[in-house]
Amino acid sequence: MEIATSRKLGTLLSLMFLWIFPGDAQMVLPRKRIEVINGQMVVLQAWYAPTSDINRNTIIWNFMSNASTLIISNTAGVPSHGSPQFMKRVGFTEAMPNSNLSIFINNTRESDSGRYLCQVIIPEATALTGELTLNVKVPPSPPVCTMVGKPVLKGNVTFSCKSKAGKPVPLYRWTKTSPRVRGLLLSYAE
Ligand SMILES: *[C@@H]1O[C@H](CO)[C@@H](O)[C@H](O)[C@H]1NC(C)=O
Ligand SMILES: *[C@@H]1O[C@H](CO)[C@@H](O)[C@H](O)[C@H]1NC(C)=O
Ligand SMILES: *[C@@H]1O[C@H](CO)[C@@H](O)[C@H](O)[C@H]1NC(C)=O
Ligand SMILES: *[C@@H]1O[C@H](CO)[C@@H](O)[C@H](O)[C@H]1NC(C)=O
Repeated sequence: MEIATSRKLGTLLSLMFLWIFPGDAQMVLPRKRIEVINGQMVVLQAWYAPTSDINRNTIIWNFMSNASTLIISNTAGVPSHGSPQFMKRVGFTEAMPNSNLSIFINNTRESDSGRYLCQVIIPEATALTGELTLNVKVPPSPPVCTMVGKPVLKGNVTFSCKSKAGKPVPLYRWTKTSPRVRGLLLSYAE
């Protein structure tokens, strides 16, 4: 009963929406912030409800870093690939032309982190745009640790550990195993 009511309300709202913005469909990007571990595959989801013949539309995905670089595009079912950064790693998840604009990126890299812009160019109509952010995280590499100072009674020693790779910057936790000593001072260093 409640579901039926909310469905009706949903239909009513979308009808109102169409009435306010006639002919202008919105692009849907269900996940605007995506996190992935480097090396994994990721799907950037986007779709829209076309109000005209989709065969005439052009789909463009851009990666927005310092400059905007083309990732992939498709005009009337004819694909074209862009930047070498994404070459051979990206593709549309659905056969084009399609109202589902989702793309996949294989073997993600840290440098894929950033903003992604999807556009639909529709002849004689306003273009649709949508944006999402991808964060490619890197697991920390095993830390390299060093000791400075002489490990003598009442002497000071500094332990340092650092990982070459890791995004976000790795946090370290130091623990001392046996024997338990009171008043041991641990100095923290990255
Ligand atoms: C973006 O600009 C910064 C500083 O201007 C530069 O260090 C970096 O390499 C540039 N990145 C790309 C992908 O061009
Ligand atoms: C992406 O990875 C999938 C699964 O590993 C594979 O089937 C597909 O061919 C790859 N696509 C590209 C363009 O590399
Ligand atoms: C569009 O395609 C993506 C990837 O295959 C899928 O996850 C999503 O559910 C599809 N969206 C719709 C509305 O069918
Ligand atoms: C060890 O460090 C403490 C605090 O910084 C200092 O007061 C002390 O003199 C140092 N001891 C030696 C042996 O360097």
